[in-house]
Amino acid sequence: MRIYREKDYEAMSRRAAQIIAAEIAHNPACLLGLATGSTPEGAYRYLVDWYKQGLLSFKDVRSVNLDEYVGLAPDHDQSYRYFMQSNLFDHVDIDPANTRVPDGLTRDAKAFCDEYDAFIRAQGYVDLQLLGIGRNGHIGFNEPGGCFVKETHVVDLAESTIDANARFFASRDDVPKQAISMGMGAIMGAKKVLLCASGEEKADAICGSVLGAISPSCPASILQLHPDVIVVVDEAAFSKLAAAGFQA
Ligand code: PGA
Repeated sequence: MRIYREKDYEAMSRRAAQIIAAEIAHNPACLLGLATGSTPEGAYRYLVDWYKQGLLSFKDVRSVNLDEYVGLAPDHDQSYRYFMQSNLFDHVDIDPANTRVPDGLTRDAKAFCDEYDAFIRAQGYVDLQLLGIGRNGHIGFNEPGGCFVKETHVVDLAESTIDANARFFASRDDVPKQAISMGMGAIMGAKKVLLCASGEEKADAICGSVLGAISPSCPASILQLHPDVIVVVDEAAFSKLAAAGFQA
């Protein structure tokens, strides 16, 4: 596990974007595993900027997203498909046919999830998987629980996740209670993982993920078993690791 300790959100975003851009430069037809949320917004901003400057092309890039809310249509402004379009896809030359986000309106979730996993497996898994992290240590929407779930699956969101995401909706009651999430099989199958976090509210989750027991009670802790993980954090998210004497 390599840890980049950056000054603030902006520096974290730039570093994450550099790592993604390097992957694309190295492998122009790479399969990127993409994430949504406040954490990757800044990195996507850098990537769009570099694309506009002609430094980067997404022409042959393919992508699969980690998760989507159950019940939200792609054009709902809080759906993760909408997020990806407005933060990245609409501004770069990626082929829309090469982008995949779980279908929150699927009528047959089991068949959909099986097909999602089959697709990822058939591609030889993701080349670079971008991850944010929840305050409770979730990655994708793999919430803390009794076991790590391997397959893409429908998840009941943790109350703390609903609380954290309520800021994006008119009221807490409007936050979907379920999501479709890639499972740990696809995440751990990725050739390289890029975990990003910013802010003090992520410090416990980052510390637990890097130094804690490998346990489904902190889902991101499973990344300790992955051979190629890059963690990019700002000072605030690093603070509990620093307090534990961890050097980076
Ligand atoms: P955030 O969410 O980037 O909006 O903080 C991350 C997550 O919950 O995985």
